[in-house]
Amino acid sequence: MSTCEKKKLYIKTYGCQMNVYDSGRMADILAPLGYQATEILGEADMVILNTCHIREKAEEKVFSDLGRVRDGQKEGALIAVAGCVAQANGEHIIKRAPYVDIVLGPQTYHRLPEMVAKAHRARDEKTGRGRGIVETDFPLESKFDSLPDTQSIQGTSAFLSVQEGCDKFCTFCVVPYTRGAEYSRPVASILEETKRLTDQGIIELTLLGQNVNAYHGEHLDGAGTASLAQLMEAIATHVPSIKRLRYITSHPKDMSDDLIRAHGDLDCLMPYLHLPVQSGSDRLLERMNRQHTAAHYLEILERLRKVRPDIALSSDFIVGFPGESDQDFEDTVALVKNVGYVQAYSFKYSIRPGTPAGLYEDQIPEAVKDTRLAHLQEVILEGQKAFNAACSGRTLPVLFDRMGKTPGQIVGKSPYLQSVHIQGPESLMGHIVNVHITHGYANSLEGVML
Ligand code: SAH
Ligand code: SF4
Ligand code: F3S
Repeated sequence: MSTCEKKKLYIKTYGCQMNVYDSGRMADILAPLGYQATEILGEADMVILNTCHIREKAEEKVFSDLGRVRDGQKEGALIAVAGCVAQANGEHIIKRAPYVDIVLGPQTYHRLPEMVAKAHRARDEKTGRGRGIVETDFPLESKFDSLPDTQSIQGTSAFLSVQEGCDKFCTFCVVPYTRGAEYSRPVASILEETKRLTDQGIIELTLLGQNVNAYHGEHLDGAGTASLAQLMEAIATHVPSIKRLRYITSHPKDMSDDLIRAHGDLDCLMPYLHLPVQSGSDRLLERMNRQHTAAHYLEILERLRKVRPDIALSSDFIVGFPGESDQDFEDTVALVKNVGYVQAYSFKYSIRPGTPAGLYEDQIPEAVKDTRLAHLQEVILEGQKAFNAACSGRTLPVLFDRMGKTPGQIVGKSPYLQSVHIQGPESLMGHIVNVHITHGYANSLEGVML
């Protein structure tokens, strides 16, 4: 088969933003082989499911979708399962779904062209369905050294992976097993990628990592290692066309003094921080191995507010972690009310194979988890509504990035990641414009251009 022959690639992405980034890079790697993106499953010559293992439901979704892919695929299409379910289950995926050609982990996707060639050869040898190719090791070389320089990107906002993996081992979480040990990319390579993105019109950049504030990559000119704050300073200095900088996801333990200070010093760093706390109960935080107390977390927020009084906060919560008492749950609700999050994600604890908490004997009944989740989500939504309502009357800079659903409407993002709707010309697209907010709804804001 000629390498420049046009072929179609269908990618479905599950899970976190890092998977979104990875899916983009997989498309970049396959582009030189002639693969172009399609959103129609039935016309794809290759299908990639980029999967998430974080909760049981996410995993089950993959297997039900795989059945749908098998039934709806174009005759002879290659099927690949990538991401964290692939890493966790390896060849068991092929056992359960024998029509899968390729299983690849998050650290091996730079080898995709090789795997595609192998999968074709395996098919030719056996005629029809090939034997599955499984590549889920953690290679010594970093995939970041072998990713192509060409990056296809649209719009004005982009994600960039700067750190990957996790050494924290929270007792509920699979990420340290699926993504491996912490790794930070060198500052120079991040700056190069940032410049390439700005050449394509990107002005808002979100730095990604499973523990992005544990970042400690090689600094420029052999100046030792850089912290996340130093990396962001380097971006602000060397790539001034980045107007908005964000980072996600952080661990409270790694909120260092210089990072807190950066929130006061760096103009391009947005006044919004997602800092997951998971629970408001010290007893549970200890059993979760989060390595901090609720008081320590609150103290970090206080210091952040001192340097950046308008900082808005968001978090993740788990309800129904093994042994969670009514009091533990009340402690979480109290913490949510105390902090006043502008937004937050909450999940029912899900037993994950191979994690310590999966073996704890005091698991919480599903019905209790349901009640607690509903209650917590109500409290979170109240906070979100109150924050949005309080934005009414304020003037906020809005980055416009999409057309609205009604004629003449254009939609953008506030510094706090709220969607802002106004009536305005399409020419605003890609620009940051001051907007006077006239209404704060539960999930969005409305305003007029100044
Ligand atoms: N690295 C990030 C989050 C990674 S996973 C951090 O340390 O905060 C994203 C969120 O999924 C977590 O914050 C947690 O709230 C949730 N999560 C992880 N494992 C879970 C499990 N077993 N059951 C339910 N929620 C879980
Ligand atoms: Fe999972 Fe904890 Fe690591 Fe976050 S810090 S990825 S929750 S183990
Ligand atoms: Fe899911 Fe893996 Fe991300 S488990 S949340 S895709 S790191």
